Amino acid sequence: MRSPLQLARKFATLRLELLCRTAKLFGRNRPIPERPVEVMGLRFPNPLGLAAGVDKTGALTHLLDAAGVGSLEVGTLNPDSPMHSVARRDGNGPLLGVNIGCRPGSMGPQAVDEIVDMMDVFWESADYLAVNLSSPFHRQAGMIADATWLGELFARVKSQQERLISLHGRRVPVAAKVLIEPPFPSLPLAMARDAGLDGIVGVTLPGTDETCSAERVASWLAPVPLISVGGIHDAVEARRRLDGGSALVQVYSLVMTGGPARVRALARDLCGVTEE
Ligand SMILES: Cc1cc2nc3c(=O)[nH]c(=O)nc-3n(C[C@H](O)[C@H](O)[C@H](O)COP(=O)(O)O)c2cc1C
Repeated sequence: MRSPLQLARKFATLRLELLCRTAKLFGRNRPIPERPVEVMGLRFPNPLGLAAGVDKTGALTHLLDAAGVGSLEVGTLNPDSPMHSVARRDGNGPLLGVNIGCRPGSMGPQAVDEIVDMMDVFWESADYLAVNLSSPFHRQAGMIADATWLGELFARVKSQQERLISLHGRRVPVAAKVLIEPPFPSLPLAMARDAGLDGIVGVTLPGTDETCSAERVASWLAPVPLISVGGIHDAVEARRRLDGGSALVQVYSLVMTGGPARVRALARDLCGVTEE
C-alpha cells in the first residue's frame, strides 16, 4: 500500500510526464536555448538544470529536454533503485548528471561501499556524478556530522574516480550534494572541498541567513564550482545566484508545479532568447 505522500509524488510525476509529452508534441525539435558555460571541465549548453528527484530513475530523461535545460540530474539512485536506461547523449542534448547514494538505512563502511559501487555502475552513462549527502536520512543518521565517516567516504570516492579514469580512459567529474547550513562552512562542505571533489551541489534552505548565502559559499569555494539549488523560482533569483558566483543553477519545485513550459521560459530568459 502506498502512503499519501507516495501517491502525491506518483501523481506529480505522471502530471509532469503528460506535460512533457504535450510540450514535445507541439514543440517538436526545438533546440535547447544556448548560453554555453564550462563547469567541471564540461560544456553545459546553458546554466539551468533540473535537480535530482524530478526524474528519480531515468524514466523521463528522454522527455525532460522539453524543459530547455542544459542538464538533468537523474536520481538519487541507490543499489535498490529500479533503473531505466540512464544514458548520456552525444550531440546537443542536455548533459546528464547521475545523483548516487547508499540504501536508506545503510550506515558506516557499508554506506561507503554502496556509494563507491554506484560510481562504477554509472561511470559510462553519466556526464557527471553527484554523491548525495543532502537527504533527511543523512542528518538523522548523523552521517554529515561524522568527520571520520566523511573523510573515509571522500577518500574512497577520489580513489575510485582515479581507478575508473584509468580503467575507462574517460574522466567523469564527481560532485557532492550538501545542504548549505550554519555554522559556515559546514563539515561536509569543507571536507568535500578539501578532498578535491570537482564541484558542490549546494542546497540553500528556505529562511537561511546571510552567513550561508549562495554568494558567500561560491566565493569561499572558488575555484571549485558551486551548483546552486533551492528556492530558485524565477529569473530574478536565478540571475542573482549566477551573478553571485554560482556556476550553474538547478530547479526542482518550478518544474513540478509549473511544468516544462515554465522552466523553458526561464532558460530562454537566462539565455536572452526572445523568440522560438
Ligand atoms: C519530493 C522531493 C523529492 C526529492 N528527491 C530528491 C532526491 O532523490 N535526491 C536529491 O538529491 N534531492 C532530492 N530532492 C531535493 C531537490 O533536488 C532540491 O534540492 C530541493 O527541492 C530544493 O530545490 P527547489 O527549491 O527548487 O525545490 C527532492 C525534493 C523533493 C521536494
